[in-house]
Amino acid sequence: MAAATLLSGDVVGPAAGRTPSIGDVSVTLARCAGVKGRSARSGELFRAVSSAGNRHPYEVYVSARGVDGLPDGVWHYDPRAHAVTLIGPPAVGEVTALVISGVPWRSCWRYSERGYRHVGWDCGTVTAHAVLAAAAQGLPARVETAFDDAAVRALIGARDGAEFPMVLVPLGDGTPAVAAGGEAAQGDLGAGAEEFPLVVAVHEAGNLRGAAEVAQWRRTRAGRDPALRPTAQVPAEAGDEPLELLVSRRRSTRRLDDAAVIPPAAARWIVDVASAAMPGDAGTLHEVRVVAHGVEGLDPGVYRPTADGLERTASTSREATFRTCLDQAPGRDAAAVLFLTPAPGPAVASDPRTYRAALLAAGYALGRIYLAVTALRLDCSGLTFVDSELPATIGVQDALAVIAVGVRR
Ligand SMILES: Cc1cc2nc3c(=O)[nH]c(=O)nc-3n(C[C@H](O)[C@H](O)[C@H](O)COP(=O)(O)O)c2cc1C
Repeated sequence: MAAATLLSGDVVGPAAGRTPSIGDVSVTLARCAGVKGRSARSGELFRAVSSAGNRHPYEVYVSARGVDGLPDGVWHYDPRAHAVTLIGPPAVGEVTALVISGVPWRSCWRYSERGYRHVGWDCGTVTAHAVLAAAAQGLPARVETAFDDAAVRALIGARDGAEFPMVLVPLGDGTPAVAAGGEAAQGDLGAGAEEFPLVVAVHEAGNLRGAAEVAQWRRTRAGRDPALRPTAQVPAEAGDEPLELLVSRRRSTRRLDDAAVIPPAAARWIVDVASAAMPGDAGTLHEVRVVAHGVEGLDPGVYRPTADGLERTASTSREATFRTCLDQAPGRDAAAVLFLTPAPGPAVASDPRTYRAALLAAGYALGRIYLAVTALRLDCSGLTFVDSELPATIGVQDALAVIAVGVRR
C-alpha cells in the first residue's frame, strides 16, 4: 500500500493480524529508529526519524513473545549495527511490544530542562514511524502511553533518573508482554550522563504505580478520541511511494523559498495527516493551527481546520512567525507553519501524565507531517519556538511543537 494512503487512513492494522516474524520486527526497527546512511563529508549518521537538535534521546527495545525466528525475551536495538541484543528473560504478557525509552541527558546537556520536550517529541516521532511500519506489514499496532512505570523500567534495565520508559507499541491485540520475567541487564548510556533533577521531577510526577492507577488514567482519557476521523482525499501530488522510500528520502530543510506557493489540497492534506490522534489509550491531545504565508487561494493568516476546510482565525505576518521560531529563517520563509497546540481543556497543563502523552502526540504528528511532506515532494523542518510570542502570533497561549513547510531554496 502506498504510504500516502496509510497516512490518510486508519493506520491500525487488521485486528486479527498475523503474529510478527523476525523480518517484520527488523523492518519496523529500521523504519522507526534505524540508521539509513552516513555523510561522506562529516561522518554524521542519517536516521529514519527527524530529531530536535539531532540528539536522538531515545532507545528502542523489543519484548518478544512468539515472534517467528526471534526467541522470547527482552532485546535492545542497536541502530548502528541494525542488530538486537538479548538483555532480559521473557516477559509476562500476550503480545510482542516495542518499548521506547527517553534518555534526557542527550538533549538536556545542550538544551537544559527544555530538552524534556525534545524527549517527548522524538519518542512520539519514533512511535509514528513504528505504527506506520507495522501497518505497512499488516500488523495491528497501537500506542499505549499508560503503564506501570517502575515495572517497565525494570523490564528494560533502565537506570533511575537517566532513562525513562516513555511509550509502548504492542504489535498485536492483547496484553503487551511488559511484566518483567526476571532481571534485565543495565545498558551503557555512554560517557557524561548527567542528571537533571527538575526533568526527573517533572517526569516522575506523571508516573503511574500499579494496574489501578493505569486503569484510572485511561478512564480519564476514554472517549476523548474517536477513531481517526476520515481525512481529506490523498492529493495526486502525494504519489504512491512505499513507506520505505519515504523514510529514506525524508530530511529536514533549513533553506526555504519565501516566494514558493503550495497547492491548497496539499496544505489541507498535511493538516489532516497532522491532526490524527495516536491510535491507543491517549485520546486526542493536540490540535493544529496553520499559518498560511504561501498557500494558493488562501489569504495570509492563521487558520484552523474545520469539517469543510480551513477557517481563518487571525492575521499574522512572516516577521511574527520568524520571531516566534526563535529568529530562524524557515519560520519566515515557509509556505505554511504548523503549530501543534494542546487540545482544549485543563488536562494537558494540569495532569503530568497527560502532559507527557501530549508531547508524544505532538511528536507523533511531527513524524507523520515529515512523511506527508516528503510524499508531496515538499520540504520541512521542525522548529523550536518562543512560548511567549504565541499569543500575539497565532492567538493561543501554548504550543506543543512547530514545523515549517515549504519548498527548498
Ligand atoms: C521537534 C523538532 C524541532 C526541531 N527544531 C529545529 C530548530 O529549531 N532549528 C533547526 O534548524 N532544525 C530543527 N529541527 C530539525 C533537526 O535539526 C533535524 O531533524 C535533525 O538535524 C536531523 O536531520 P534530518 O531531519 O534531516 O534527519 C527540529 C526537528 C524536530 C523534529
